[in-house]
Amino acid sequence: TMLLHSSVLIGLLCLGQAGGAWGLARLLDNAELRSAFSVSRTNSMEGGPKMTVTFDTVYVNIGGDFDAKAGLFRCRIPGAYYFSFTVGKFPHKDLSVMLMKNRNEVQAIVYEENAGEERKVQSQSVMLQLEFGDTVWLRLHGDPRYALYSNTGHYTTFNGYLIYPDTYSYQTHHHQHQPAYNPQQDTEDAKSRPGDPEKEEKEDSQEYDDEEDDGRSAFSAGRTQSILGIDQVGVPQHRPISFDTAFVNIGEDFNVTEGVFTCRVPGAYYFSFNVGKLPMKTLSVKLMKNRLEVQAMIYDDSQGEKALQSQSLMLALKSGDVVWLYSHQRDGFGAYSNHAKYITFTGFLVYPDISSSSPTTATTSQSEAAKRP
Ligand SMILES: *[C@@H]1O[C@H](CO)[C@@H](O)[C@H](O)[C@H]1NC(C)=O
Repeated sequence: TMLLHSSVLIGLLCLGQAGGAWGLARLLDNAELRSAFSVSRTNSMEGGPKMTVTFDTVYVNIGGDFDAKAGLFRCRIPGAYYFSFTVGKFPHKDLSVMLMKNRNEVQAIVYEENAGEERKVQSQSVMLQLEFGDTVWLRLHGDPRYALYSNTGHYTTFNGYLIYPDTYSYQTHHHQHQPAYNPQQDTEDAKSRPGDPEKEEKEDSQEYDDEEDDGRSAFSAGRTQSILGIDQVGVPQHRPISFDTAFVNIGEDFNVTEGVFTCRVPGAYYFSFNVGKLPMKTLSVKLMKNRLEVQAMIYDDSQGEKALQSQSLMLALKSGDVVWLYSHQRDGFGAYSNHAKYITFTGFLVYPDISSSSPTTATTSQSEAAKRP
């Protein structure tokens, strides 16, 4: 048994050295931990009692978690998922489609108030933290004044995929045999009364904390209030758009109330943002890096009513870089939102830099202050 113990010890040491990125790659390579769907709809739908948007074309359904006929994604692997959807606007109808969680928890909306005859599409995207059995679906407004448009050109699409499996539940469900190798653990278990809830909880959170210390980074936030630009006296300040709802904040790299993401793990990040247009106001929202480096923007100076604009891109970030959204702070500009969350901002690490060392040793502090908005 001496031999067994030392080899396990070496194994544990190696695990510690390799750090979180290796562990994550291992998780994502595991076919059991895959979940992704992409579906579309080939016909239009009018508001009515049946509000769930269903789909008839399935491009991808890895893991089989999406029921196209029912229009329902059901979470099998707990974790953080990225969802995006695009819906067509029906001529002479208003458009209102909400991303729902479970029975009636509104997560985000696409909306266009416009009785015009034109057809167009509107898009939205967020990340959600899901537990086993949670459902995610799209709800069309039940009033016949609303409709969504699609045809064989597939105006209406819905996608979702697992970004980060919940590693805590992965460990408890799949790796329960591991602690048994640890002789220390064996005696600990023997001492504790079976089913002692306090002890179990402590161990669980300990395990969770260890996993939190890895190289994961993802956030998704929503804002329930509109923004109105007002001419300011003197030097204008560039204030980030702040948020009031955090869907996901893995790694705590996004300060929700401040609206600022600070890069901890260097690498390539995907960002997406969606913003509502205020009637009679120009929409101008920019994705900013560090102090005032514009990366991408959305813009709408039409006379139209409420609608959405969307943008997304990837950025290569160094530790301490900050990313935020800026809505033009002048009279005549603004952005619309309400409790349904027209304004959303999402970002997540796609690939960490291979050359960089452990994220915890990164030097953030010296340059960070100079970069902030
Ligand atoms: C977010 O930023 C504000 C303003 O800088 C600060 O007061 C607050 O403590 C920060 N919140 C977190 C969770 O770091």
